[in-house]
Amino acid sequence: MNLLKEKQEVRDIVTQARARGRSVGLVPTMGYLHEGHLSLVRQARAENDLVVVSIYVNPTQFGPTEDLGRYPRDLERDLSLCREVGVDIVWNPLEMYDSGHRTWVVVEELTERLCGISRPSHFRGVTTVVAKLFGVVRPDRAYFGQKDAQQAFVIRRMTQDLDMGVDIVVCPTIREADGLAMSSRNVYLTPEQRTQAPLLRRALMAAEEMVATGERRVATIRARVEEVLAAATLGRIDYVEIVNTQTLQGVEEIGSESLLALAVFFGKTRLIDNTILRIS
Ligand code: PAF
Repeated sequence: MNLLKEKQEVRDIVTQARARGRSVGLVPTMGYLHEGHLSLVRQARAENDLVVVSIYVNPTQFGPTEDLGRYPRDLERDLSLCREVGVDIVWNPLEMYDSGHRTWVVVEELTERLCGISRPSHFRGVTTVVAKLFGVVRPDRAYFGQKDAQQAFVIRRMTQDLDMGVDIVVCPTIREADGLAMSSRNVYLTPEQRTQAPLLRRALMAAEEMVATGERRVATIRARVEEVLAAATLGRIDYVEIVNTQTLQGVEEIGSESLLALAVFFGKTRLIDNTILRIS
């Protein structure tokens, strides 16, 4: 496994691999890897000849009062996990933006809903850094988790709109045994908050059960989700939304496929989760 810091080194290795007809898979991460990231890497490993993992805590996707300064980091541990799952290249950029940086990639509308309401500049940072990562690595495929459903959706839109030619692969959410979706931010939770955090998954399951037994009214389903979440006395709901999976617009009735997405604050820690509600 190669640990690279410079863009040019990454570009050179990937260009050589491509010239030999090898396919390239990229797993963009902010490090502090967990089983969710590793599942993306395993899928990338199965589908590509060369697997690149980027580890970069991207400052432009954090709001001014968010957790950039305390975002968890452990490069040594990340590197040994990457070695175990057969990563070829870890790119840990020293520098991503130079002082003259003035260009932003903005996906309109889709980024103004759901998480975009409480994190207004977040997706602009994500799409810009992902476009830059794609520009250097020029992967055939890039891997993202369903836990960040809106992120995956926005990135797919960007690659289509800008003809980037990267296949966006979205992999299932990986959960702890009690249902909590894995996230690097789970380490922020106090023991009491951690005990209540699985209520997010339970709320999603309550909605799935309602749809399975015939409920279609979004207002009724949302009220039930909020009722389950109310048991998380240490939590504060940021949003509970049911939207069309193609447009991310709110719906009043469950269609053949709707996205139920939610975000809950525990103190300053904001947890997100989602499920696709399907009518079979
Ligand atoms: O999902 C993440 O960890 C980040 O948003 C990403 C895609 C690596 C961009 O910084």
